[in-house]
Amino acid sequence: MNKTGLFLLSLLTLNGICSCADSLKEAFGCKFKIGTSVSPHELGSGANFIKKHFNSITPENELKPDSILNQGASQSQGNNVNPAVNFGQGTSSTLKFCEDNGISLRGHTFVWYSQTPEWFFKQNFGNGGFVTPDIMNQRLENFIKNTFQQLAQKYPKLNVYAYDVANELFLNDGGGMRPAGNSKWVQVYGDDSFVINAFTYARKYAPSGCKLFLNDYNEYIPNKTNDIYKMAMKLKEKGIIDGIGMQSHLDQSYPSADVYKTAMEKFISTGLEVQITELDITANDQGKQASLFKDIFSAALKNAASITCLTVWGTNDSISWRSSQNPLLFSSGYTPKKAYTEVMTLAAC
Ligand code: GLA
Repeated sequence: MNKTGLFLLSLLTLNGICSCADSLKEAFGCKFKIGTSVSPHELGSGANFIKKHFNSITPENELKPDSILNQGASQSQGNNVNPAVNFGQGTSSTLKFCEDNGISLRGHTFVWYSQTPEWFFKQNFGNGGFVTPDIMNQRLENFIKNTFQQLAQKYPKLNVYAYDVANELFLNDGGGMRPAGNSKWVQVYGDDSFVINAFTYARKYAPSGCKLFLNDYNEYIPNKTNDIYKMAMKLKEKGIIDGIGMQSHLDQSYPSADVYKTAMEKFISTGLEVQITELDITANDQGKQASLFKDIFSAALKNAASITCLTVWGTNDSISWRSSQNPLLFSSGYTPKKAYTEVMTLAAC
């Protein structure tokens, strides 16, 4: 650009007309990390796009218990307490992509009622009866230990900066934790001690600098906000939690930005970090979608002292788990949508 061009550009910037950032990372990366979930099939064609926009990655499925726990290997160890953790091809390629490109990792997740094999809770890692809480504690500790050890050994340069230790513990209506019929964790333990234990073990084995999160969805429903808040405070008193993850799977017409912000402020009032961990907004009206995306980014910026990452749950509509409802900032082919251009008017870096 020549001198006149540069002069005009700086005038526009000073007047707030043009932020001139060319990516999400450039626009917001100085305030908090900007992340996306990623599936391994995207690492080829989507690599440049991902590298351009994001400095944090959450593997969409590849670190979930059912992806990394290996039944045969667990059984052949023959000790009933040490589950074998095995990173398959999808997990390995995602972690290598992060390591090679200096993109930080949000690990997701250890304790979850879903996508966790039933044999993990059963005698001899088989299909008999459930194990006792004492046996399960040893399995839980070894599961967390083995995972962090392999991350460190296989990807020594990878920055594992955050981990969802527990995901989706609570019912939506303020009824507390999921009942035994809906969570094998509760079925085995009968109370919330597995949550405390999981955070205790994670604190013991996570690399220094890796922040430990309690993550949940529909977190803006006031009664549920309250249940998450209470559990976070209990963990905070024990010094074993660092943050609360707001999944943020929203819709253009619910929740309102105000309802969402009320939950965010309540979580911030714990004094813990807060991360937006899985943001997407289903929509049939691009204007309404853009406006709610903008409100959420704006709330995050306003609270940037406490918000340490904003992750969108996918790169573009065509690969989203809710693809029929076009929930992301980009449409297929990584084409920017109105939501993206609106969000970029808030560029803060
Ligand atoms: C939840 C989980 C995510 C993912 C989504 C669907 O939000 O936390 O890991 O499974 O559902 O993609």
